[in-house]
Amino acid sequence: METATPRRVEHQQTDKGSVPVYTTAIVEQPWDSYSAADHDTWARLFTRQLGLLQGRACQEFLDALDGLEMAADKIPKFSDINALLAPATGWTLIGVEGLLPELDFFVHLANRRFPVTWWIRRPDQIDYIAEPDLFHDLFGHVPLLFNPVFADYMQAYGRGGIKAHGVGEEALQALTRLYWYTVEFGLINSADGLRIYGAGIMSSKGESIYSLESDAPNRIGFDLERIMRTRYRIDTYQKTYFVIDDFEQLFAATRPDFTPIYAALTEQPAVAAGDVLDSDRVVHRGSGEGWAQDGDV
Ligand code: PHE
Ligand code: CO
Repeated sequence: METATPRRVEHQQTDKGSVPVYTTAIVEQPWDSYSAADHDTWARLFTRQLGLLQGRACQEFLDALDGLEMAADKIPKFSDINALLAPATGWTLIGVEGLLPELDFFVHLANRRFPVTWWIRRPDQIDYIAEPDLFHDLFGHVPLLFNPVFADYMQAYGRGGIKAHGVGEEALQALTRLYWYTVEFGLINSADGLRIYGAGIMSSKGESIYSLESDAPNRIGFDLERIMRTRYRIDTYQKTYFVIDDFEQLFAATRPDFTPIYAALTEQPAVAAGDVLDSDRVVHRGSGEGWAQDGDV
């Protein structure tokens, strides 16, 4: 595949809102150009999250960090990760400048290519950055690609995305909500209690504690159609987390053809991010403390 020259591109605020300025090209990770400060940012984030995630992240994630030989000492080389990941589950990492248009993203996933933003946040963005950087993409997402069942789920999601793209806006919105509440913000049951598997939580200092231990958010059993109706927050911690029992459950629930589900969903009202329904299997009903009153997407 052809590669372009890597640039560090962030979304830019314009009168049309936040506009991404990206190329869709694949870039070679410019590993030699990382500064000492970049490696230090990785080291600080890696060490901090690794500590927080003991007893909080699912064991599959923690094992994969070891299996993929991610460590604090330096930003991993995508080529080194690929040498371990490809033989395990057939996935390869590709470098990108930032968020991709939906269809490009789906096509990569459908081909077991996971796009990773090549640049890492600046030191002043250690605690919060509005868009995915290398730390979120690589530390948050890549370890579970080492798990065979989750690896298959991600590819199936990509294929489903290509299909939904042909169906229309509402189908895409439903599928995006599924991604949000599973891949980004999912919780999973284990013999030792609730654990994190979502990448958005894994890469967040505050949310890795909040998602499991705060009284404020709802924790509700996984339900595909319910999730597809549920709005979400992009600017605060989630009001609701959905809990799977294992990755097999997730994969099995998403195996059926979604076309009739998308059609049925158009008859159903959306659910606000913090609402609890009578039909929900409630693990924890959130107190709602500190919730913002608007801004669901
Ligand atoms: N089964 C889904 C469809 O028919 C594809 C899919 C699988 C979507 C896994 C998301 C996750 O569209
Ligand atoms: Co992400």
